[in-house]
Amino acid sequence: MDQTSTMDKLISLCKRRGFIFPSAEKYGGLQGFWDFGPLGVELKNNIKKAWWKRFVQQRDDVVGLDSAIITNSAVWQKSGHIEGFSDKLIECKNCNRRFKESDFAAADGAATLACPYCNSKNFSPARDFNTMLRTYIGPVEESSAVAYLRPETAQNIFVDFDTVRQALRLKLPFGIAQIGKAFRNEITPGNFIFRSREFEMMELEYFIHPKDDGTWFKKWVEESYQWFLDLGLKKENLRKYEQKEEELAHYAKETIDIEYKFGFEKGWAELMGIANRTDFDLKAHGFMYKDDVAKSEFVPFVIEPSAGVDRAALAFLLDAYDEVKGGRTTTTESNKEVETVLRLHKDLAPYKAAVLPLSKKEQLSGPAKELYHELKKHFMVDYDDVASIGRRYRRQDEIGTPYCITVDFDSLEDKKVTVRDRDTMKQERVAIAEITAYLGERFR
Ligand code: GAP
Repeated sequence: MDQTSTMDKLISLCKRRGFIFPSAEKYGGLQGFWDFGPLGVELKNNIKKAWWKRFVQQRDDVVGLDSAIITNSAVWQKSGHIEGFSDKLIECKNCNRRFKESDFAAADGAATLACPYCNSKNFSPARDFNTMLRTYIGPVEESSAVAYLRPETAQNIFVDFDTVRQALRLKLPFGIAQIGKAFRNEITPGNFIFRSREFEMMELEYFIHPKDDGTWFKKWVEESYQWFLDLGLKKENLRKYEQKEEELAHYAKETIDIEYKFGFEKGWAELMGIANRTDFDLKAHGFMYKDDVAKSEFVPFVIEPSAGVDRAALAFLLDAYDEVKGGRTTTTESNKEVETVLRLHKDLAPYKAAVLPLSKKEQLSGPAKELYHELKKHFMVDYDDVASIGRRYRRQDEIGTPYCITVDFDSLEDKKVTVRDRDTMKQERVAIAEITAYLGERFR
């Protein structure tokens, strides 16, 4: 399916069904800021949970951290962000719109560019624009009170290096992971939640002996790539891209981006990056590591897999979006319509199951509600008794619910319910007493 039109349909679905919508839309919104609704927050939490489980809880060489968003400004001074965390900004002298120079294909000099809004070729010379968001701490707005909202979660990991290492008696190689908010005053936020000014990151700083950087770099590229595949992204929509010298961040010696075929920009765009940050950061903050066995002291290197939660959510949603023509459901009313199915990996789906009584009558709603409340103790489950069963299936398909559980009049006799699989649409009768275990097996 064409990703550009998929994006438009997805944006509409996300708002209509309570996944994602502009923040403060009532007041015209605020460019680059988004709210995640009831289903969006479940999806996002499921992405973070899957990442944390794989890269922290299931490993014995990685530990977690949740550090402050605002920290001492010296951190950003030492890390080079105050000096170097900037984009090249150019301004159209005719309509005064501002652009990131790198967004233009011909970034070889402002004079050759044409403004996409007014076609003028009259641009200001490019200037550095620091994209860190600033605030003041305390009641006086003076320069000594300036603080920055972190543009990456990584720096706090570096600054806490010794404290965490000593507390847990960690030996190289080991990693510290963190999930949390980051802020960037992007010149051109856009493409839905792809480039926002407030977003979440999942970052892991993996500390190693400098001689091992090549091996660990490759390992982390493969592990990161595999994680996306395991969560259902289609292989043909994922690729690795090695950054050119001039594209590298100020701290990186080598970076491979995992790109997803989002459909905008050049088709492919960065989903996450794996960087070899060398000893840049630990050196900047003045940390050393003592190897008691080898009796040596050195500054460890860092390999950093860094992914955006929001960008991952967008890739998972785009990849899962599917339309089936001719109707999937059995009702005649839907046979001519296009039905939307969000084929999200079951671990990412906001609801794991929906309980649907065939009728609103107390006779069925009683046992259906009982089942719903029982399942809710273990899984995120929806309950829907409004409209025809075909319509209800479609509502659940559209938000990616993997299983629909129908309670019908036969259920009263045989104590069984019908479980319908979102993707295969196969239906099977399962004993009510077995349903928790049935779902448990599928959502371990
Ligand atoms: N600590 C490394 C770092 O910050 P980055 O490539 O600038 O590297 C890492 O960011 C990831 O964060 C990106 O691959 C992307 O997924 C996400 N990201 C970066 N800027 C973003 C933005 N403005 N909006 C949404 N996600 C963003």
